[in-house]
Amino acid sequence: MPFIIAIDGPAASGKGTIARALAAHFGFHHLDTGLLYRAVGAKGGDPVAAARTLEKTDLSRPDLRSAEAGQAASRIAAIPEVRAALLAFQHRFAGQEPGAVLDGRDIGTVICPGAPVKLYVTASDQVRAQRRAAELGADPVLMLAELQERDRRDRERATAPLRPAEDAVVLDTSNLTITDAIARAVAVVDRARG
Ligand code: DC
Repeated sequence: MPFIIAIDGPAASGKGTIARALAAHFGFHHLDTGLLYRAVGAKGGDPVAAARTLEKTDLSRPDLRSAEAGQAASRIAAIPEVRAALLAFQHRFAGQEPGAVLDGRDIGTVICPGAPVKLYVTASDQVRAQRRAAELGADPVLMLAELQERDRRDRERATAPLRPAEDAVVLDTSNLTITDAIARAVAVVDRARG
């Protein structure tokens, strides 16, 4: 049985960095599921059709990291048919040996509810805005408003809203260095693997 690590959390919480580090540490596959939604939003046209015909090449567009692509992703992510169209790919990915790390908003709650490790990575709004501003070379005040708008939409949607699974371990990275945050995540996984 492949080992699954489910990681969820709001934008710029550090979940992507932690997911990549865990995958490298344990030799697991890694899927940034936000990329799927960003690619659907960036394709334009009917988002349901875009989700149903999504291809690998759609995921390598250089413009997917922008704040605009994040907003577009958050909007189309509220459409149940879009989420349904992306389900099979995520389940297949999660089934790979020896294991997989998936990060997103609904991995522990909807995509892989049986995952033996669920992490909910979070950080204060201010810290997240600072990090994203530094990453994108943008204004932290604008970033704060952008993140808060996106998080509100992701938390309040009816289908697969952002929330911690009941059995998720919450990791607040506000006052942690990247190294410390990764070390704590590795410890959680080591404990679960026994
Ligand atoms: O993780 P990210 O910032 O790249 O995600 C972009 C948007 O995609 C996010 O605001 C909401 C949506 N998303 C989602 O609804 N479910 C996921 N599993 C991942 C992302």
